[in-house]
Amino acid sequence: MAFLHFSLVLLLSLLCVDAAIFTLQNSCNKTIWPGILSGGGHPLLGNGGLELKPREYINLNAPTGWSGRFWARDGCMFDDSGKGKCATGDCGNALQCNGAGGEPPVSLAEFTLDSPMDFYDVSLVDGYNLPVSIIPSGGFGKCSSVRCVSDLNLKCPESLQVKGADSEVVGCKSACLAFQKPEYCCSGEFNDPKICKPTNYSKIFKKACPTSYSYPYDDATSTFTCQEANYLISFC
Ligand SMILES: *[C@@H]1O[C@H](CO)[C@@H](O)[C@H](O)[C@H]1NC(C)=O
Ligand SMILES: *[C@@H]1O[C@H](CO)[C@@H](O)[C@H](O)[C@H]1NC(C)=O
Repeated sequence: MAFLHFSLVLLLSLLCVDAAIFTLQNSCNKTIWPGILSGGGHPLLGNGGLELKPREYINLNAPTGWSGRFWARDGCMFDDSGKGKCATGDCGNALQCNGAGGEPPVSLAEFTLDSPMDFYDVSLVDGYNLPVSIIPSGGFGKCSSVRCVSDLNLKCPESLQVKGADSEVVGCKSACLAFQKPEYCCSGEFNDPKICKPTNYSKIFKKACPTSYSYPYDDATSTFTCQEANYLISFC
């Protein structure tokens, strides 16, 4: 009986422990430092942040029901103790984000697994810093790839630009982030999908990345589902 019970537990854990494998890939021509934030109570993946040189990748196992987000930091300088700063996407001046989110503007790859399907999207609601794609494999359902590969920094209106040390554009704020107005953030009296509509600013993001969130109520063309898949998250 004890053996049967043990086998059952083992079988269940084999079936359930790794709900999905996330592969983070650096397809950029420069080193990036992906950051990872887990949703309420879910385990930290990859210590919350790591370095990837060009063409490097890493596999991360996420348990059943995991939710969270991935983004890329670039232009980082960390010391031996893992303290330092980045040009974009900083999370509390540390290599391992440890529960801190990425400072916007950052392009986000967002996931909620097994709810009861996997839901995923690329969000530019708080802005953009680097191209990002989500490519599911081995799942069933619609399982569309989401590719935001356009360099939005080159198309960013002046009033939304974030500039780096040598005054190149390293990020593009959303209008909500830049101007903090209800009509851009869908807050206050605009907190209603029937009232909060695309704006001249969000349309720039939507044109560059048609399957990414360009404003908070952009769900119809920006949310995707799949079941029992693994996911490649490719930056650039
Ligand atoms: C990386 O560099 C190569 C060669 O210079 C170039 O062809 C390619 O487009 C670059 N890729 C990116 C993502 O910038
Ligand atoms: C968007 O519209 C606002 C208000 O009409 C205007 O002030 C702003 O210059 C426009 N921006 C762009 C990038 O078109």
